[in-house]
Amino acid sequence: MHINKLILQNFRNYSRHEFKFGDKTVILGENGSGKSNLMEAVYLLATGKSFRADREEEMVRYEEGFFRVIGQISQIGQISQVAVTMSEGRKKFEVNGVPRGMVNFVGRLKAVLFAPQDMELVTGSPGGRRRYLDFVISQVDREYRRCLISYEKGLRQRNKLLEMIREGLAQRSQLYFWDKLLIKNGEYITLKRGEYLEGLAEY
Ligand SMILES: Nc1ncnc2c1ncn2[C@@H]1O[C@H](COP(=O)(O)OP(=O)(O)OP(=O)(O)O)[C@@H](O)[C@H]1O
Ligand SMILES: [Mg+2]
Repeated sequence: MHINKLILQNFRNYSRHEFKFGDKTVILGENGSGKSNLMEAVYLLATGKSFRADREEEMVRYEEGFFRVIGQISQIGQISQVAVTMSEGRKKFEVNGVPRGMVNFVGRLKAVLFAPQDMELVTGSPGGRRRYLDFVISQVDREYRRCLISYEKGLRQRNKLLEMIREGLAQRSQLYFWDKLLIKNGEYITLKRGEYLEGLAEY
């Protein structure tokens, strides 16, 4: 998968700009010239979100009412187009000109951001490393994403149940259902994390 072209309209410091990308791209520029803004646009097309804006309206160019970001993607010889528009504070997603909900949009373009603060992956907590793995694997494996959501929900429910058992409001035997669910989903999550790390170990 490859992004061939990126068109920015009223996005951050870009009023209208078209970028074409070759096989590999290195972006150089003065401080404040818009390098991170460009990464932000690509990341937005991949994940539907900004990696840095607290208020996503910030991405609309000053004095303008909307932005539009379009990406042309090629994958196994097929060209497709993804677009995100924001106007009146609302984001809209399109694939090949057809409006899509965010869930259906995310993952069409696959991207991994590695920023300076991501050195924390090495120096920081294991929780941060797990979040990173979850984010990356979820993009390419729908079943992983499903298991992850189900696991997190199951864990919350089980914790609630533990509290109820302590207060004598529920039976220990009720844990069985949630244990089974956590084991089933946890097994798949662990397996896939292991596979991903094995692939990564090569580098
Ligand atoms: N909504 C906006 N409208 C217009 N300009 C904006 C908007 N948001 C940010 N900018 C401008 O974008 C510029 C910053 O761009 P960016 O963060 O991409 O720079 P950079 O090339 O990554 O710089 P550095 O090398 O310092 O990291 C600033 O000049 C800022 O004024
Ligand atoms: Mg920058």
